[in-house]
Amino acid sequence: MTTINRRVVLVERPVGQALPHHFRVEDVELEPLGDGDVRVAVEFISVDAGTRTMLRGEGFHMQVGLGETILASGVGRVIESKADGFSVGDAVRGGLCAQTIATMPGNMLERVDDSLGPLSLHLGALGGSTGVTAWIGIRDVAKPGPGDDFVVSAAAGAVGSIAGQIAKLDGARVIGIAGGPDKCAHLVDTLGFDEAIDYKNDDVNARLRELCPDGVNVFYDNVGGPILDAVLDNIAMRSRVVICGAVSQYDDMDNVTGPSMYLRLAERQSTMEGFAYFHFPESIEPAKAELARWISDGTIVMPEDILDGIDRYPEALQFMFDGRNVGKLLVKAS
Ligand SMILES: NC(=O)c1ccc[n+]([C@@H]2O[C@H](COP(=O)([O-])OP(=O)(O)OC[C@H]3O[C@@H](n4cnc5c(N)ncnc54)[C@H](OP(=O)(O)O)[C@@H]3O)[C@@H](O)[C@H]2O)c1
Repeated sequence: MTTINRRVVLVERPVGQALPHHFRVEDVELEPLGDGDVRVAVEFISVDAGTRTMLRGEGFHMQVGLGETILASGVGRVIESKADGFSVGDAVRGGLCAQTIATMPGNMLERVDDSLGPLSLHLGALGGSTGVTAWIGIRDVAKPGPGDDFVVSAAAGAVGSIAGQIAKLDGARVIGIAGGPDKCAHLVDTLGFDEAIDYKNDDVNARLRELCPDGVNVFYDNVGGPILDAVLDNIAMRSRVVICGAVSQYDDMDNVTGPSMYLRLAERQSTMEGFAYFHFPESIEPAKAELARWISDGTIVMPEDILDGIDRYPEALQFMFDGRNVGKLLVKAS
């Protein structure tokens, strides 16, 4: 059995984009396992847009200290256990962090069903900050339905691609906003969206006027900034704007650019509401159950982009914030 854990630590707080030199990959000797603890060989580490906000040193999310291992959800298999209820070989998910071997109390881990497919599914389509967030954002907050023109931003990313597919299942006409012609083709051809807007090449405001002449009924925003403004300018009467996230703002959270078009909410008797998936704890299990059913019968798809090897974690946030991921971005640790 290995005696070494390879982990990624924060060495410098990023100003602007998080780049590889802000991180260090290092090997550390494993300590003997304590009572109640479980040792896990990490297979996949989730890369989340929200991780960028954990590197600032202060804020709404949990923070990573300098010299500490990067916080991240992960999945893997138990290789040693001194905790009741966990045996060698069990598939588990938890806050395993960016490392190859995680050691933590058993009560902070959850067992996952490995018969559903690769363990990565439990971070992507079935993951709390991905598929479950999309499900809760749609079913508990945005609630699109037949007759609605529904728009989602960062639509080819992890949360956006599932949110758009659920909105489509729930009867809405779905328009995705994403960067570049390939991603836009993917939204329509692979995910089954009705229309796509390429914010890097199109005039978003003009395209929204063309595609939604009666206005956008529901907007699921993952991006903020100028895209949020363009959609606010095009909302319908009694529409709903749902703030899931604002990835365009995370590199400079001290200077967040607020929406300048918010008075459209008053003019058009509309609402803007934010949420985090953990505000709806009662929805987490129903969300996972329905997502698992949809994934196994092919009703929805969740593409994955996998960076191979823990040594690639330091480039992962740059990869995401440059918009290079399609679907769920993961690092394969083992
Ligand atoms: N509320 C919650 O509980 C909750 C939970 C989890 C995640 N979230 C939010 O969900 C959103 C998506 O997160 P994710 O982890 O699934 O990431 P993701 O969508 O897989 O990746 C982020 C995507 O954002 C786009 N992007 C990056 N910089 C941008 C910019 N300046 N302007 C416009 N688009 C930009 C990129 O795609 P393009 O190529 O299209 O630019 C990139 O692929 C984030 O806002 C995150 O904070 C919220």
